[in-house]
Amino acid sequence: MTEPTARSAPCAGLRISDLAPDFEARSTIGPVRLSAFRGRWLIFFSHPADFTPVCTTEFVALAREAAAFAARDCALMALSVDSLFSHFAWLRMIRDRFGVEVRFPIVEDPTLVIGRAFGMVSPQDSDSATVRTTFFIDPRGVIRAMTCYPANLGRSIPEMLRILDGLQAVDAQGALAPANWQVGEPLLESPSHDLDAVFDAEEATAWFLRDAGGQDR
Ligand code: BEZ
Repeated sequence: MTEPTARSAPCAGLRISDLAPDFEARSTIGPVRLSAFRGRWLIFFSHPADFTPVCTTEFVALAREAAAFAARDCALMALSVDSLFSHFAWLRMIRDRFGVEVRFPIVEDPTLVIGRAFGMVSPQDSDSATVRTTFFIDPRGVIRAMTCYPANLGRSIPEMLRILDGLQAVDAQGALAPANWQVGEPLLESPSHDLDAVFDAEEATAWFLRDAGGQDR
């Protein structure tokens, strides 16, 4: 088990509602600029290293679900400290072994400039590997959610899609997504800020816990 440390953790640098820092870098599909994704959703994520077991399973799973992200008008972009040629060799191996082509960009970040700007590595960290940080960035370039997983635990692609669906649904309906929400299920109304509504509500919870359609929970 990893020993706890007092230094600032990766993922601590940026906050929800921050504008994602812009950058331009080399990637597996050519030069990319983060701000060029404005107008679409973007999932920007780091992985510790190419040619490692958990990362390989993540990239195979993401490539297999690429159409599901595209259907939600969401681009994917990955980053690690590995060189562009390491990325190429890894993607070729993934294609040959698993029969899937990873077509979304993988950025090289050998100097850690981007990884540090996004808090993917802590400033004091001597290990250059990034953790599994994932940023959900909306069409305005605003960070709307982020997750941080350790190197030894792979991300859930259904949960990445659920987060994206949830963010898109709450934006579209001006509502709230409850625990375990899935597409097709009701959202929640924003709670009342009016004391009369609190006292007038028939049920004790009805002033703050109602489906967006008006049904009490
Ligand atoms: C992995 O992806 O399997 C991995 C990466 C870095 C450290 C440990 C595991």
